[in-house]
Amino acid sequence: MGDSKSGVVAEDTKNLETSEESQTALPRHVAIVMDGNGRWAKRRGLPRVIGHQAGMKALERTIDNAKDLGVRYLSVYAFSTENWKRARSEVQGLMGLFRYYLKGKIQQMHRRGARVRFVGLMNAFQDDILETVRSAEDLTRDNTDIDVIFCVNYGGRQEILDAVSSLMRSNHDGPVTEDVLRKHLYAPDIPDPDLLIRTGGELRISNFWLWEGAYSEFYFSDLLWPDFDRAELERALHSYAGRNRRYGTA
Ligand code: IPE
Ligand code: IPE
Ligand code: MG
Repeated sequence: MGDSKSGVVAEDTKNLETSEESQTALPRHVAIVMDGNGRWAKRRGLPRVIGHQAGMKALERTIDNAKDLGVRYLSVYAFSTENWKRARSEVQGLMGLFRYYLKGKIQQMHRRGARVRFVGLMNAFQDDILETVRSAEDLTRDNTDIDVIFCVNYGGRQEILDAVSSLMRSNHDGPVTEDVLRKHLYAPDIPDPDLLIRTGGELRISNFWLWEGAYSEFYFSDLLWPDFDRAELERALHSYAGRNRRYGTA
């Protein structure tokens, strides 16, 4: 995609943001399946973990861009419950990066007004990671510019199972409605994702936001995650702005 074209898209997106319809034209919650790090590295003859490192830079950029463009909630799929099946060396490399990111970047996100939250089966992580996660959540709790939700050791099926278990422990009386179950999900206060972006060219959900994404709009990008940039985010937002969300109505 040439620069001139992305320039036009950028201009259009800007108009949407400032127009009367901006409240509905701009997604409140953007969710991203950050896929393609391994292939990005492979194409360069580099180890996969270098692709994950480049992916972290893309994430930092994307948080800034999303905030700048007015996205209120950004959730990112960083590690799935199935990703433990990967080679030990890759899993260890990812844990190392997670640690580095937590210890090095949280202050920066705090200064930028971001509230950070972690969603998934957190007790699979080592104690030092857990402590840093909790202190990052505490430190940034009152920030209101953007909520960044890191989905780590997250699986949509696991989340639903955990919600059912939690509901059963709660001695709930009466019918189990959607609203009742929703209260037991990992982050019931976060609005459902309006726009779900997947990079890396695969056309699947891979166990992300199964309950919450029931009516999300999808945007599939052929860019590998480390190459994801502001122009592509603007294209996704622009595509979203042209959709007609019907929720089953005629
Ligand atoms: C996504 O990139 C990051 C994680 C799953 C942790 P991949 O590592 O899946 O990259 P590809 O899909 O193999 O290129
Ligand atoms: C989804 O990507 C998980 C994350 C991006 C964290 P995967 O690379 O694990 O998904 P599949 O294996 O292609 O479905
Ligand atoms: Mg992948």
